[in-house]
Amino acid sequence: MIEFSAESRFIVTGASSGIGEGIALALNALGASVIAIARDENRLENARKKAKNPESFFTVSKDLCADLNALPDFIKSLREQYGKFAGMAYCAGISLLSPLRSYNQESAQKVFDINYFAPIQTAKALLDKRNNIGAQTSIVFIASIAARICDKSQLIYAGSKAALIASAKSISKEAATLKMRVNTISPADINTPMTANLAAMRDDREKLYPFGFGAVEDVANLAVFLLSDKASWITGQDYVLDGGLG
Ligand SMILES: NC(=O)c1ccc[n+]([C@@H]2O[C@H](COP(=O)([O-])OP(=O)(O)OC[C@H]3O[C@@H](n4cnc5c(N)ncnc54)[C@H](OP(=O)(O)O)[C@@H]3O)[C@@H](O)[C@H]2O)c1
Repeated sequence: MIEFSAESRFIVTGASSGIGEGIALALNALGASVIAIARDENRLENARKKAKNPESFFTVSKDLCADLNALPDFIKSLREQYGKFAGMAYCAGISLLSPLRSYNQESAQKVFDINYFAPIQTAKALLDKRNNIGAQTSIVFIASIAARICDKSQLIYAGSKAALIASAKSISKEAATLKMRVNTISPADINTPMTANLAAMRDDREKLYPFGFGAVEDVANLAVFLLSDKASWITGQDYVLDGGLG
């Protein structure tokens, strides 16, 4: 059984919605303290109200892309306020369906800022030994199956997630010298507000899944395991969660 003490503190980005909220609530329910980050204060507060242990569910409203260079200082300020971190689930992200003919630098930059540059900058700070508990510090990035399927119109989104997976593996090799762990999870379609926005394609897509779309809990269960010391020999991996999509 996985348990955390309240002294086990995890940063969870994207915690106001969907997968991030699910992971934040799951960690908190197992005893961990959670620093839940997203932009929307109201949605963060709604997540806190659902927490089993709301006294150890801390919400921080922040646009992670407002100043990417300042993210390491932001993480440092959180450590000064809350204490050293046992890890992070980086779940913030946006999707974009756009074919090559519509490609423009501005929207590509926006997707890469939150899906690639912000996770790298936060990981840089998290893996700074002044900000973490040392050995067994664990980071999980939520990537996407899109990086492997590379469907039509996903050149930017799939590219941002493929870059994240590759960099996470590289970072895991640096982190291993300090006995810290870094993994990615690549889900297929999960029922969240992100997929609800693709309602027009939804019915056709869901038929492809033997078990239907996944639930946020399906991702949270794996993320919690990877963040716990039960996964102490696991690093540098990318876990596909596709409910049999194959
Ligand atoms: N749902 C799926 O089928 C699926 C499949 C594969 C991978 N994923 C990945 O899983 C992650 C979570 O997706 P989801 O489905 O849970 O999406 P979601 O419900 O739309 O949640 C996205 C989260 O990211 C936060 N966010 C977005 N931009 C931000 C910014 N600039 N600064 C801070 N926070 C920001 C949002 O919070 P605010 O709006 O409050 O800032 C929200 O909490 C994403 O990386 C997504 O690419 C999802």
